[in-house]
Amino acid sequence: MAYVVTRLCQGCKDTACATVCPVECFYEANAPSAELPDQLYIHPDECIDCDACVPECPWDAIYKEEDVPEIFKDDTALNKLCMDRRAEFKGSVQVEKPKPTPDQREANKRKWGLT
Ligand code: SF4
Ligand code: F3S
Repeated sequence: MAYVVTRLCQGCKDTACATVCPVECFYEANAPSAELPDQLYIHPDECIDCDACVPECPWDAIYKEEDVPEIFKDDTALNKLCMDRRAEFKGSVQVEKPKPTPDQREANKRKWGLT
């Protein structure tokens, strides 16, 4: 079991999650594309399930694998690509971002069909 970054991260990519990860298991695509979207990915074999990243994400984008919402189920396999196609990924580059307002966070969830 591991944690999963869902598509709620796309276009947000706050990176606060990666800042607290004790095992540095957050990655991003070297060349983001439609196939490898511009978001962070959690390496499923490196994640130690510590839960530290979840409360840090201001966009509520990270879930335990078993709790990933049904409409985001494909994101679990997407995260695994950073393990299976490791050469196409690099460790997360952490850049401090302005935090979203509650309205912006809810609008992002609506945009992806979560609410
Ligand atoms: Fe890293 Fe812990 Fe989050 Fe896994 S659960 S990605 S080990 S901070
Ligand atoms: Fe993305 Fe949230 Fe991390 S927006 S980069 S999962 S803090």
